Amino acid sequence: MKLADLVTPALVVDAAGLEHNLAVMAKALPGTRLRPHVKATKCTALARRQAALGHRGFCCATVREMEGMAAAGLGEDLLLANETLDARRLGRLDARVTVAVDSPETIEAAAAGGVREVLIDVNVGLPRCGCAPEAAGPLADRARRRGLTVRGVMGYEGHAMPIAERAKRREVVEAAMERLAAAHAAVGGEVVSAGGTGSFDLNTLASEIQAGSYSLMDTAYARLDLPFRPAFWVWSTVLSLGSGWAVCDAGLKSLGMDHGNPAIDGARVWFCSDEHVTFSGDPEAPGGPLRPRIGERVRVWPAHVDPTVAYHERLHLVDGEAVVDSWPIDLRGW
Ligand SMILES: Cc1ncc(COP(=O)(O)O)c(C=O)c1O
Repeated sequence: MKLADLVTPALVVDAAGLEHNLAVMAKALPGTRLRPHVKATKCTALARRQAALGHRGFCCATVREMEGMAAAGLGEDLLLANETLDARRLGRLDARVTVAVDSPETIEAAAAGGVREVLIDVNVGLPRCGCAPEAAGPLADRARRRGLTVRGVMGYEGHAMPIAERAKRREVVEAAMERLAAAHAAVGGEVVSAGGTGSFDLNTLASEIQAGSYSLMDTAYARLDLPFRPAFWVWSTVLSLGSGWAVCDAGLKSLGMDHGNPAIDGARVWFCSDEHVTFSGDPEAPGGPLRPRIGERVRVWPAHVDPTVAYHERLHLVDGEAVVDSWPIDLRGW
């Protein structure tokens, strides 16, 4: 099959770009130094490539992802890097299962669900999950009293990821990791799980980095000084021409928009609606403005990997104009 034959909008991955990104990361963080986060790509075929490169432990964000990874035979060391109040399906998995906990309630849910190992999730500055650093030791004691093994701590410094300036990003990562180090001293255990694509080479505390987006990249991460290449886009057909603008058939239902508008080479994106992106040729584009014609295909570069991928049923791997494989996004849903 050729790229031109795909029904649009379609999620397309440049096979060479993906392999480049996987190889660069595997060199920087070999083996268990990286615990890839599968929530970014929700695809066991892609996770299998990461495992083949030596990363055999994974992070998941949902129980469904944990189940899918175990069923795919990728359950050597799965971390639900997220809180759950219903761990019953996790206790039954044929996999090594560790769950993040940040409260007496999540500890109770893990124990009641038959989970045996936990990490104490610590809030390191992102107003999301995680206990206060000073609560980590008492929570670890409570988990141990409940019969759970506490493997260590987790603390995701997501507030540092979008900071474009490297020195500033490093500062924020370091401040976050001071909080995690204090918690770790009180909790103990071998594991300090933290980090993401934006801090993969700045976080010096973590024993393992939880990066996910690095494999495909998006325009938000492309603004940073990272060695990974944008390797995926939404392939879209120009449907209509207005007076001074063009419309293609991607839109809110095929693009994660929380990090802003997508990009189109040689064009300015005006706005996205349910089934459409409205754009015009950019007179200041380095290669000159795009002059779209009806029926022409364009690459729409998403601003955020995770929600974009979650909208699609498959990703199509391409080598130039040839579609060389098609992988199901099989970890979707809950
Ligand atoms: C708990 C957790 N760890 C790590 C990450 C890093 O992911 P990425 O590398 O895609 O930024 C995320 C992203 O949101 C996350 O929620």
